[in-house]
Amino acid sequence: MIAAAEHAGTAPSGSGPPALRVVGLSKRFGGVAAVDGLTLDVLPGTMHCIIGPNGAGKSTFFDLVTNVQTPTSGDVYCFGQRITRLPPHRCAGVGIARKFQAPTLFPELTVADNLFLGKVGHLGWNRLLSRRAAAPSDPDVAAMLDRLRLADQARRRAADLSHGEQQWLEIGVALMAQPRLLLLDEPTAGMSPRETAATADLLRELTAGATTIVVEHDLAFVRHIADVITVMHRGQAVAQGTPDEIAANDLVREVYLGRKTL
Ligand SMILES: Nc1ncnc2c1ncn2[C@@H]1O[C@H](COP(=O)(O)OP(=O)(O)OP(=O)(O)O)[C@@H](O)[C@H]1O
Ligand SMILES: [Mg+2]
Repeated sequence: MIAAAEHAGTAPSGSGPPALRVVGLSKRFGGVAAVDGLTLDVLPGTMHCIIGPNGAGKSTFFDLVTNVQTPTSGDVYCFGQRITRLPPHRCAGVGIARKFQAPTLFPELTVADNLFLGKVGHLGWNRLLSRRAAAPSDPDVAAMLDRLRLADQARRRAADLSHGEQQWLEIGVALMAQPRLLLLDEPTAGMSPRETAATADLLRELTAGATTIVVEHDLAFVRHIADVITVMHRGQAVAQGTPDEIAANDLVREVYLGRKTL
């Protein structure tokens, strides 16, 4: 890890355990080390962004944290609790919610119903179906619709929203579970520049005070929202720091950015 790490990785004294700690985390797929000895702390209440080129291991890192994939070696801790190899369905119980890189909305259900499922999705199907009629009047759904600026779209099918609105709705669905740690994989993928800029504002508002890890390609976007940036390359964290530190770091430019500037 390069020098920028020292500043950002230092926890304020007395702040308790990190929201996420991974220690020596690795995942091999045959001959490919998708994640390779990753050690990383994410501090509570921060927006921590992970950037890196295609294939750097960013999504696999999320898969290991949520136990969608089993690590080859290493450990994961969430607020001090060791969660390595916990079954994926128990991650919600730990307080981790994730927005995947691929869409996971129920396209035929309304916007309000999708949010309601985010809130009560842990219930069995029978109880869910009996409570579905409550979705439009549920106060938490109404509050989230306002926060997402989708109040006037509550009764539309999710499939009929714009691409950007669907991405925002997915973030809202993840937040309905009131997670302690929110993982977002490429929330601006496929968005127009206008939608991307609106997403930066929205994310800062929605996640204020929460701990959020965002995996992204869009460097300008990351620079606007991040408290801390970790740069991944070939499964490893090669740099960490504030957005300004990362933007100014020669090794980061060389390894990851090439001729691009942040
Ligand atoms: N299930 C799998 N089986 C085999 N190889 C995999 C699997 N998942 C990921 N990989 C490989 O692991 C490496 C890291 O992939 P990963 O999807 O984590 O990268 P990423 O940083 O999320 O990339 P992108 O920016 O394209 O989303 C790649 O070489 C990929 O081909
Ligand atoms: Mg990915």
